[in-house]
Amino acid sequence: MGKSIVILGSQWGDEGKGKIIDLLMRDASVVVRFQGGHNAGHTLVNQGEKTILRLIPSGIMHSHVQCLIGNGVVLSPTALIQEMGELERRGIAVSERLRISEACILVMPYHVALDQAREKAKGKSAIGTTGRGIGPAYEDKVARRAIRFNDLFDEKYFCAKLEEVLDYHNFILQNYHQHTPIDYNQLRDNLLAEVPQLRPLKADIVALLAEYQAQDKNIIFEGAQGTLLDIDHGTYPYVTSSNTVAGAASIGTGYGIRHLNYIMGVVKSYSTRVGSGPFPTELQDDIGKQLASRGNEFGSVTGRPRRCGWLDMVGLHRSIQLNSFSSICVSKLDVLDELETIRICTGYRLHGKTIQIPPADAKSLDECEPIYEDWAGWRQSTAGISKYENLPQKAKQYLSRIEELAGVPIALISTGPDRNEVIVLQHPFQEK
Ligand code: GDP
Ligand code: IMO
Ligand code: MG
Repeated sequence: MGKSIVILGSQWGDEGKGKIIDLLMRDASVVVRFQGGHNAGHTLVNQGEKTILRLIPSGIMHSHVQCLIGNGVVLSPTALIQEMGELERRGIAVSERLRISEACILVMPYHVALDQAREKAKGKSAIGTTGRGIGPAYEDKVARRAIRFNDLFDEKYFCAKLEEVLDYHNFILQNYHQHTPIDYNQLRDNLLAEVPQLRPLKADIVALLAEYQAQDKNIIFEGAQGTLLDIDHGTYPYVTSSNTVAGAASIGTGYGIRHLNYIMGVVKSYSTRVGSGPFPTELQDDIGKQLASRGNEFGSVTGRPRRCGWLDMVGLHRSIQLNSFSSICVSKLDVLDELETIRICTGYRLHGKTIQIPPADAKSLDECEPIYEDWAGWRQSTAGISKYENLPQKAKQYLSRIEELAGVPIALISTGPDRNEVIVLQHPFQEK
């Protein structure tokens, strides 16, 4: 029997999803992205060679893998072509192995301009988006005015549609943001020039996935961002504009929900967040700086420093409720190696009360004081360890405590950025 596994972030993104997906691809033949766009930055390292993927699924380094982009993804043709070029120049075959849903919403330069102009106008209350146009593109989708991937291949229809949508957005850009309008002719010509490269990539992803499922292939559904950035369930409005939870794997690909049989949450052994928004366990002291520097916590795509803090079980509990994880992968354990004390947040104090469930609104979450339990650090290197028995006793205790608090088994422990720096306790594809 083939297995369909969803792998997604359980916190605010950058948990190390790319690395884990790349590792598990050895045992799967298909990988599909189901939401987000080139706001993602997924890092893969194989024998020291680093690849950062934005849109292309994290299976591309394995020549046997078919890479798919589902309808839930917002697609910048320009960003895609650039990323394909970077990989192909390194000798990695992409166009033969990449297929894209006809229903993907296109991210256009006017979305980027709107995203950036709005963030600028918000000043201090900016969300801290990646500035890639992701939010405005999803808005167009819901407003039923978006241009979809398939529209590119009907030139007459495409040009008329582009003119109409651009007119609408230019009005807002000019009158609301005092932004220079985007030139229709130039944009049209640029996009039409990309069509020959894009046309062979279009496919019926719904049919392809159904076929692969019927052929008993192992399939990985690759999440982007993280659960707490979900548009509905995250720390709204400091979120991304897509659903990032496991349920989106079905909606964002058109894969029958009954065929998804395993969900793995990647949990960073501490917390990070990029951009604004509440972060109860954030550390603004030297320990926060130490985590940032040991963990190399800078945005893979934007280079922005990531805010760092302790592991937050309150947020993780909500993530577990939302995703029904089969197992978790604890990542970046090695980053904690030098710490004397390691804290785990087990509850919040809000207005004199202790709570275990995160409040619904960002303002209240911002007022929450974390309640911690302290664990002695192991102060010994775990970097690259691949056997559980070789971990220091105190690291084992920390992991057991996470597992106990989560109530979900730990299947993988990541001990370094490289593909092989991992402890496999339960292999998701080999488990019955
Ligand atoms: P993603 O968006 O979830 O794929 O994560 P990113 O690639 O944005 O960020 C994770 C960062 O941590 C990258 O620089 C990875 O190379 C690195 N990384 C992943 N797993 C580990 C690990 O176990 N230990 C260390 N030290 N780094 C890791
Ligand atoms: P991966 O897949 C971390 C954050 C942004 C911002 C918010 C909204 O690499 O884990 P957007 O541009 O999506 O409208 O920004 O979401 N964000 C991420 N943070 N990892 C990501 O992706 C992110 N993608 C978006 O920093 O706070
Ligand atoms: Mg990332």
